[in-house]
Order: sequence, then structure tokens, then C-alpha cells
Amino acid sequence: MLEPWHVPCSGDAMRDPALSSLLIFAGVALSRCCAGAAVTPEFIYGMPKAELHIHLEGSIDPEEYIGLVARNNLQSAYGTAEAVRLRLRHATNLDTFIEVYQEMLASMRTERDFHDVALACFEHLHAQHVVHVEMFFDPQMHTTRGIPFSTVMEGIDSARSEAEGRLGMTIGYIMCFNRNRTAASAMEILEASKPWLPRILGIGLDNNEEAGFPEKFKGIFARAGQLGLHRTAHCDVNQAHSVDHIWGCLQLLGVERIDHGVNVLDDPRLIETVKARRIGLTVCPTLLYTEIPGRLEFRAKAIKRMLDLGLLVTVNSDDPGIMRGLYVSDLMAKVQVAAQLSRDDVVALARNSFLISWIPDSERKLDLRMLDDYVASHPQ
Ligand code: ADE
Ligand code: ZN
Repeated sequence: MLEPWHVPCSGDAMRDPALSSLLIFAGVALSRCCAGAAVTPEFIYGMPKAELHIHLEGSIDPEEYIGLVARNNLQSAYGTAEAVRLRLRHATNLDTFIEVYQEMLASMRTERDFHDVALACFEHLHAQHVVHVEMFFDPQMHTTRGIPFSTVMEGIDSARSEAEGRLGMTIGYIMCFNRNRTAASAMEILEASKPWLPRILGIGLDNNEEAGFPEKFKGIFARAGQLGLHRTAHCDVNQAHSVDHIWGCLQLLGVERIDHGVNVLDDPRLIETVKARRIGLTVCPTLLYTEIPGRLEFRAKAIKRMLDLGLLVTVNSDDPGIMRGLYVSDLMAKVQVAAQLSRDDVVALARNSFLISWIPDSERKLDLRMLDDYVASHPQ
């Protein structure tokens, strides 16, 4: 497991322990002297923050997967956590990522499984000073395996109430429909979800970015609006037609947030529109098991640019189980070093997470006050 304030670096330098320690030391020292006021990893970890882009299914880590496979007497091609980690190296782009995501989530069968996976994830987030979570889940990826929707909902909802009571967090769920499936299949789930709607915050879209996205979901998003649900959609980084897809989500689906949305920066009119409409951008500067040189740095610099433009950007964990076990504070610390964020920048990331969250205004006020108190009690 990497140190939480491990400096991102690619290529040969990371294979040389002496050089890599020097780089780590230099990165931390730089982050303290060049960005104006001191920004330490401890300050970043301790900040109260919201997590708005994390997938229940993507939080299953290799050890958890092995445990679920054994508990459910399932056949698996991967007998040890190490073998699972090797398999996760296959994820190098969105399509291969979804292949391993599907394999990992197939280990969940029972209400208890859904409960345990969600609760373990909330415990990880609590340890990173997350006080509010909006968690994605993918009902179609379970109902199509024969798991009843009620099994998923009962499991995750009991985890929510346990975490809220024991850890003092506030938690909501976002039901994600798969972009590569039909609108009819999404509508079926949306209608079936009605008994649970008071416990669902909103809807989203994820999975492979293809086949009629976003137009085909117009009716689903209109219906979700009638049902009083919030609306967001993934627009993954550097996909074919990323800019058009973001425009489509804004103009046809009426989204309040875009998940990832880094390609907003490719179109000045999009930047203006996203800023004027106060659209939240939940960016995920994650690291895959197979290192892709420059990936983290590209996303970190995009985050810095969004902050400089006054956009409502946040840092998020996405799929920590599949992405080296790194959660939001780990990632914020990496972004701080990679893009030389100032103390004001990192505080803005936490502030944005509350500003664009879907909590009632009374709670938002309390969370923002908690953040202000934290900053005031950590003088520069
Ligand atoms: N499913 C889980 N994480 C995802 C992501 N970042 N993009 C698309 N689908 C996903
Ligand atoms: Zn995601």
C-alpha cells in the first residue's frame, strides 16, 4: 500500500527507491514552500469534505472480493488477492475497466453482501474525514444477474442507516443507469424503484460511453425530474465526442452535475455555460493498477485550471477497490503536489463538494461552517 502522501511519478524514477524517496521529499517540501501558505497532507486529510463520485461496486477491493467469493461458494478464475490485483492490471481504458468491474461485482449475491460492501466503503471514507457521501450504484448490473432490486436496496439502505448512526455521516444514493443499455431497461428500473424513492437522491449514467448517449435517455431524465430526483451523468475523460456529449447532457438531460467532465475545458462556450449554470464537476484523478504515464498529472492540471476559472470542481474517489485503494483525501494530496495547489485551492475543493452536494440547505450550512472552523483552527 502506498503512503498517503506518496508523490505521483511515472517511469524509471519510481523503480529506483533512492531517487523516488528524494522525489517524495522534494514534492512535499515544494508543496510547503512554493504554494504560498503551507499545505500539508495532514491538513488535507483533516478537512471535512463530501464524496460525490464513488461507485459501490467499484469499492470492492481484492481482499473483499476473495472473501465474498468464498462466502458465496462461487467459482472464480482468481484464487488470491494477488491474482485479483494482477487481473486488475487489465483495466487500461474505459472498456477494459468495465470488464474487470463486472467481474468484481459478480461476487455480490445477497443482501448481506450489499450491506457489507457499502459499510466498508463508508468506513474508509469516514477515516478520510468525509462527512457526507453520495454513492452511485448500478441496479441493472445486478438485476440482469438475477439479483432482485429489493435485495440491493435493502442491503445498501441498512448500511446507510448503520453508518449514519455509528459514524455520524450523512449519506444518499444515486441510481446509475448504464449508457450501453436501452432506455426501456432504464425506465423499467426507474419505475420499480418507486417504493424506495424517498431513500434515493437522484439518477446518473455510467458504464461504456456509446450507442445513442445522451439523446436516448431524454425520457428517463424527464421522468426522473417529475419524480423529484436530482440528475447527473458521467462524461468520461477524452472519449470520442466528449464535448458533444457534455453539451447533450446539459441541453437534453438537464443535468445539475457532470461526472468527470474534464473535456469542458476544450470548449470556451462550454466553460461559460457550466460556470453560469453552476454545474458541478466531479473529477476523479485516480490511478489504475497499470500506470499510465501522465494520467494523474493531466487530471490534476485540469482541476487547477477549473479552480482558476471559478468552476465548481471537486476531487473524488470513483472506484477505489479497482484503483489501488486510494480514496478522496489520498487523491487530493496527490493533486495538490502534482498541480501545486495552494491552501486556498484545496479548501475550495472541499467547499465545492458541499456547495454542489444534494443535501438540504440547512445541512449544507452546517457542513460549510464545520469547514470554516477547521480552516480557522489551522492557522497558516
Ligand atoms: N463505472 C464505474 N466507474 C465508472 C466511470 N468512471 N465511468 C464510467 N462507468 C463507470
Ligand atoms: Zn465514475
